[in-house]
Amino acid sequence: MAEFIPEEVIQQIQNRSDIVETISGYIPLRRSGNSFKAVCPFHNEKTPSFMVNPARQIWHCFGCGLGGNVFNFIMKYEKLEFPDVVRLLAEKTGVEIPSSFRGPADGRSKAKRLYRINELSARYFHNNLIDENKGKSARRYLSKRGVDLETIRKFRLGFALDQWNGLLNFAKKQGEKEDLLKLAGLVIARKERGYYDHFRNRLIFPIFDLQDRVLAFGGRVLDQNLPKYINSPQNPLFNKGRCLYGLNLAKQALKGKGYFIIVEGYMDVITLYRLGVRNVVATLGTALTIEHAKLLKRYVSSVAMVYDADQAGETASLRGLEVLLEEGLEIKVVRLAGGFDPDSFIIAKGKENFEKTVVTGQGLFDYKLGLLTNKYNPERLEEIAKITAEMLPTIARIDNAVLKSGYIRKLARALSIDEGSLLIELKKIKRKDSFYCQSQENPVPKYNFSMNAKEKTLVSLMLEDPETAGLARDNLALEDFRDLRLRQIAAVMFKMVSEKKKYTSSQIINHLKDEQASQLISGLSAGPEQVGSKQRISRDCIKKIKAESLKQARLNLQKKIKVAEEARDDKEQMRLLGELNSLIRV
Ligand code: UTP
Ligand code: MN
Repeated sequence: MAEFIPEEVIQQIQNRSDIVETISGYIPLRRSGNSFKAVCPFHNEKTPSFMVNPARQIWHCFGCGLGGNVFNFIMKYEKLEFPDVVRLLAEKTGVEIPSSFRGPADGRSKAKRLYRINELSARYFHNNLIDENKGKSARRYLSKRGVDLETIRKFRLGFALDQWNGLLNFAKKQGEKEDLLKLAGLVIARKERGYYDHFRNRLIFPIFDLQDRVLAFGGRVLDQNLPKYINSPQNPLFNKGRCLYGLNLAKQALKGKGYFIIVEGYMDVITLYRLGVRNVVATLGTALTIEHAKLLKRYVSSVAMVYDADQAGETASLRGLEVLLEEGLEIKVVRLAGGFDPDSFIIAKGKENFEKTVVTGQGLFDYKLGLLTNKYNPERLEEIAKITAEMLPTIARIDNAVLKSGYIRKLARALSIDEGSLLIELKKIKRKDSFYCQSQENPVPKYNFSMNAKEKTLVSLMLEDPETAGLARDNLALEDFRDLRLRQIAAVMFKMVSEKKKYTSSQIINHLKDEQASQLISGLSAGPEQVGSKQRISRDCIKKIKAESLKQARLNLQKKIKVAEEARDDKEQMRLLGELNSLIRV
């Protein structure tokens, strides 16, 4: 990796990228003593075991064992290769990468090219909208719906002109290729040859990721035409099931709220935001997925779903709610009566009434029971069984035992049936569930730390302080480290010390190519501080490692001597005995 970009440049980039600042751009971090904690984005967990250490510029998850420095985090999170991450951070930190190392002209990954063309298009659409003449009709439409200029700017709304090749020509003039525009879903190939704009005469809603980069677009007609909305198709950047519209803004608005409001439409998010309800996100016309749930779970422990009353297929949306429940999110469901959706409700009744309505939302249990008692007749035994069959899996997903037994009692009362029989049925479900859902909560750590404790301690002290590495290098050979992974890490530090280079553990990671080594280093660096004099501990470790290594060498020689003896190879036997003597004399 380091062969592509000079080490000093990588170093400079790393020095300028604070790990806390960088990682908190992706996931919310909470201070905890001298470090920061989060729910790990790389495995399923409820209590945070993901840790970021600002002093060491290291992150590590004690749950799944992953870890590393700022580069490793982005590699893992964005699924990028090391050189791509270096380039990305170079841009962010303003570090110049010498041109000979920039790679071929279009050496940028496809993802980066897609981001670039989306950004260019977003700017084009936005400029159309705010252009005195071009954007007139769209601005008139927006102003009818109360959307002011500030909101247009905040959401970077745009307008696709009523033309077949407005964006196409613009992008081509900027040197963009048609196939990239097509991949981004911005143009469509004609039957014969050539392309035409996908979005025409539509209001444009750019869809952002958590770093405010444009992933895709939604486009709405200005009149009653159909389809009302079209969206960018799925592409390497954009997957509907993984995006929540407005999350980039909503995540900044959680102070004093602690929950997200989930709505269904672009305009719902925009109007709520404009009128001061800012912790709001929308699904993009899809059911909630497990990825949505995980995304939400990073920020909050509860959500409020706000539906239109005339919500079609309400039982279908239940499935999405259960996904949220399964991720351990607490759910409130709010149904707006009177034909309102969140957008029209808040315009008609104001912010306070909207917020009041949100807090009166039902829990998932009551909501679902309400739906089911409408669907089935709770007077008939067979239908009661149907209701319980649908309710029990929901209850089974609740973690908390007190809540669970409370819900069982509630269900029994609501249906006037016996609690005991519900419990029997619940047990059957649990057995099925545990068969299918092998717990992912605590995956086996990638590293077992049964390796030699002295070697581990010494290497972690060496990582902390190059002087300790110097001491170790003067007294130990690499072969004295019996653990090959620790030996590999020690080798890098020995080399640095020989070259009189200072280092930190987070820099050492850049010199080891495999992910396992970075996990091991972050694990060692994230562990508890050694108590007592570090120098004494290091000397003690070195002594014991050396002694252990000599003992192993002697055992090996004794074995060889025995072999030579059995082979009656006197000469070899004498030579080995000499070697053994010199070892004992040490
Ligand atoms: P709605 O039809 O409820 O639209 O669809 P809305 O947001 O209230 O729109 P306005 O208020 O009439 O402008 C909800 C969401 O479903 C998706 C969009 O994401 C929309 O915001 N949708 C809807 C589509 O993708 N395509 C459609 O044709 C309609
Ligand atoms: Mn609407």
